Amino acid sequence: MCGIVGYIGRRDATPILIQGLKRLEYRGYDSFGLATVGSAVEVYKKAGRISDSEAGASGLAGSTGIGHTRWATHGEPNDVNAHPHIDCTGRIAVVHNGIIENYSDLKRQLTERGHTFLSETDTEVIAHLIEEHYDGDLLAAVNAILPLLEGSYAILAITENTQRIVAARDASPLVLGVGDAEVFAASDMTPLLEYTERVIFLEDGDVADITPDRYTIYHDGRVVERPIELINWCVEDARKGGFAHYMLKEIYEQPQSFYETIRAGIDDHVRQMIMEADEITLVACGTSYHTTLAFKYLAESFCNLPVRVEVGSEFKYFTPPLRGLVIAVSQSGETADTIAALKMAKARNCPTLAITNMQGSTVTRVADETILMRAGPEIGVAATKSYTAQLAALMQIINLRCDGAFDDALSHAHIAIGDVLLQELHEAVDLCAKAEHVFFVGRGPFYPVSMEGALKMKEISYIHAEGYAAGELKHGPFALLTPETPVVAVCTPGPTYGVMASNIKEMKARKAPVIALGVAGDTELAGFVDIFIPIPNTHLLVQVLTASVVLQLLAYHTACALQRDVDKPRNLAKSVTVE
Ligand code: G6P
Repeated sequence: MCGIVGYIGRRDATPILIQGLKRLEYRGYDSFGLATVGSAVEVYKKAGRISDSEAGASGLAGSTGIGHTRWATHGEPNDVNAHPHIDCTGRIAVVHNGIIENYSDLKRQLTERGHTFLSETDTEVIAHLIEEHYDGDLLAAVNAILPLLEGSYAILAITENTQRIVAARDASPLVLGVGDAEVFAASDMTPLLEYTERVIFLEDGDVADITPDRYTIYHDGRVVERPIELINWCVEDARKGGFAHYMLKEIYEQPQSFYETIRAGIDDHVRQMIMEADEITLVACGTSYHTTLAFKYLAESFCNLPVRVEVGSEFKYFTPPLRGLVIAVSQSGETADTIAALKMAKARNCPTLAITNMQGSTVTRVADETILMRAGPEIGVAATKSYTAQLAALMQIINLRCDGAFDDALSHAHIAIGDVLLQELHEAVDLCAKAEHVFFVGRGPFYPVSMEGALKMKEISYIHAEGYAAGELKHGPFALLTPETPVVAVCTPGPTYGVMASNIKEMKARKAPVIALGVAGDTELAGFVDIFIPIPNTHLLVQVLTASVVLQLLAYHTACALQRDVDKPRNLAKSVTVE
């Protein structure tokens, strides 16, 4: 969590840093701050959103600077705990993404040696440690203190009177953007899109010494060459483009992002890996976990392939016996728990595959092979197009194992996704917006679809929502059913249609209003539910997608009706780099 950005060149640093931080706000948005090398090290930092107080930073001078947008871990979000943090002399400023796990020991030692701390953060120890080792050479000082730090970090440091940024990374992402007599640094590529398409993904243990005209990367004290890669996104992809929210734009981009991910296909190495697997274990968190669960239902029934799915945070501490291929699914490619699980799978000599949307992200370096989704930048904190792009990648694996049996369904799925974008949802939105609790139920692959529908609803509307396997509702949650508790049920033709219909009638008998998603023309279902939402009568794989998109829209419009901050829901961040 947290986003960091740095600029060094000939231009005024402040507007570039502010713009970059806005692009990174999805990583954390409880406070922000900047420091530039002007007549001295000039610092501005503030609790709250960037757009609320960015004007206060306009006085910062200089063409070298660093910035930070925060998701609080150590110390509440306020002006003092916001980054950058400075040393006792005010000559050194530091921004940091990650956690310094031994910070309390370091802080105690530094305090004993006379340092004065202003904030409650772990990061401030870095500024004071650099101060102790700084004799005019910032690179040497940073190199001297890195071995003292335990935990994870991406750091940018500046000092007064020097047009220089020193950057270091270990277990938190850091990218350099190479321009013409200017260099950028950032937690990911999105702040760079405006300025350059040439990027360098730093490796864990790298330290970069950056001036306007040159950058030198060191690893274990030796100069190393890191390849310059071209970004495969463009700046338009990261703009709101006339939509009220990024989330709505991203929901509407799903026909394209799904299609592009299918079109990109799977390369030969990955194909071989998939065909050789006699069992697959998937690890993921949050929304990505829901895609893996949907995959399990579909792959086990369509290709008779044993699949196990594990939440990353559990896997690390309760690692199951592992056989076969291990796949890590992560839109950001930086989720700490998923990375830890992936590393454990590698340590056990399993072949590993990453599915991610983020070129150059940590999972792509850890895993043996990668399938890169083609969703483009997703700015809204709630995952939408990255979710369906993950399903695109996972459905291709199913298709491969089934000798292309679903070629036709997958190559036309984007059309059906486009159809449901126009679905009328007013009545359902009105019902949900009034509710305190909403249940989402389905069977088979529609169970994870329901879990994802509930997650979307709770994270952006703040309405309590739960996703259940439809048959489970009577084992407890029925006690909560009232005429004010809507149940959203996905019920499409297939072996569970009859039993789903019975479940819905049981809910109706408890007077819960039922909103049902069923295939267009299902007048029988439409006849006994309160609100019927049709989805196209397509292949089951495609129904999983269209039902999911309808539930995204339901959550989105409900959150808008309640005037929530849809793109930046409270307390959340899009990239969760802490355990
Ligand atoms: C955060 C995001 C979710 C995401 C989860 C896992 O909680 O807000 O949208 O599903 O992390 O992230 P990943 O990047 O690994 O898919």
